[in-house]
Amino acid sequence: MAAPAWQDSRFMKAARREPVDRVPVWLMRQAGRYLPEYRRIREKVSFLQLCRDPRLASEVMLVTIERLPVDAAILFSDLLLILEPMGLELRFGPDEGPTLRNPIREPGDLARIREWEDADSLDFVWETVRRTRAGLPAEMPLIGFAGAPFTLAAYAIEGRTSRSFENVKRFMYRYPEAWDDLLEKLVRSVARYSMAQYESGVQALQIFDSWVGCLSGDDYRHYVLPHTRRLLASLPPEAPVIHFGTGNPALIPLQAEAGGAVIGVDWRIRLSEAWSMIGEDRGIQGNLDPAVLLGPEETVRRRTREVLAETRGRPGHIFNLGHGVLPSTPVENVLALIETVRDWDPEQLP
Ligand code: CP3
Repeated sequence: MAAPAWQDSRFMKAARREPVDRVPVWLMRQAGRYLPEYRRIREKVSFLQLCRDPRLASEVMLVTIERLPVDAAILFSDLLLILEPMGLELRFGPDEGPTLRNPIREPGDLARIREWEDADSLDFVWETVRRTRAGLPAEMPLIGFAGAPFTLAAYAIEGRTSRSFENVKRFMYRYPEAWDDLLEKLVRSVARYSMAQYESGVQALQIFDSWVGCLSGDDYRHYVLPHTRRLLASLPPEAPVIHFGTGNPALIPLQAEAGGAVIGVDWRIRLSEAWSMIGEDRGIQGNLDPAVLLGPEETVRRRTREVLAETRGRPGHIFNLGHGVLPSTPVENVLALIETVRDWDPEQLP
């Protein structure tokens, strides 16, 4: 049987560090509020209803791919949905981020947290994967995703976005055994969840450790690395994994030590420097500051070329932002970024 067309796509080749004709590009939050097509679909339903409706959720990603000439699609869903069947009550207010009504604060609260095992409780995710896969061009890879254990635990304990992360750190320092229990439950749950996405039709996986940057290297090594390493080692070996972190470049070598074929990094460090910390045996994804897209188009194009010049097309670079597209981003600037990556010639100077 012939290999599926996506196997030879630029994105999959770059994830395997094979040479490509040009650097592949996709953007975190490429389907989001900055895009009129997204807002139109979102007008009629709440964000959670959208995530739970496979017809609409797949449509969101398919219209995004029609609008943006990117090299990969990502499952439309949310990081926190897995926390609901584990026993946490998730809410999205009209204009605020997610909140959990019953966060974990003391070790006794773990009694109401279940390891996620019941695949039916998230059947809308598998159906969204199947529908998105079926609607995409055959050569376009579909990326699945899940939260890293630290970021999910931080949400489960803080109950909302935090500046200081004092509740999660308090729990971690005060109750190290309960912390390990919670992270172990998350590792096993996320491993199953990722496997189910893979079996439903994603070709690659991104593990988001969006909040890990609040930790020092020593705390990451002690409280997080062993758990994240276990998770990454238990993911399907056929699917390349992008291990994304943000907020603290000092963690990059440790993130690489924990695993991932590709390490996703933010804009707080030069890509060439990050790659030398990660090592030649891994790919890299990043790393334009999403706020650059709020500037004039010329700046977007120049800064995009500057990121590309950092790797000079070395096999293994997947172009992305350092974090998700901001809601106030002009669509034209997103298109200018993608066009600049597509037209870039490694011989040319920024
Ligand atoms: O990248 C994509 O286009 C795919 C879809 C996707 C969403 N969330 C859709 C979304 C992905 C991969 C995520 C992951 C996610 N969700 C993360 C990790 C990535 C990151 O940004 O660090 C996190 C931390 C979450 C939790 C979450 N969901 C937050 C903090 C928020 C609020 C922030 C905001 O922009 O409102 C969300 C909501 C959310 N997730 C939206 C979208 C399109 C906006 C919801 C809306 O329509 O109002």
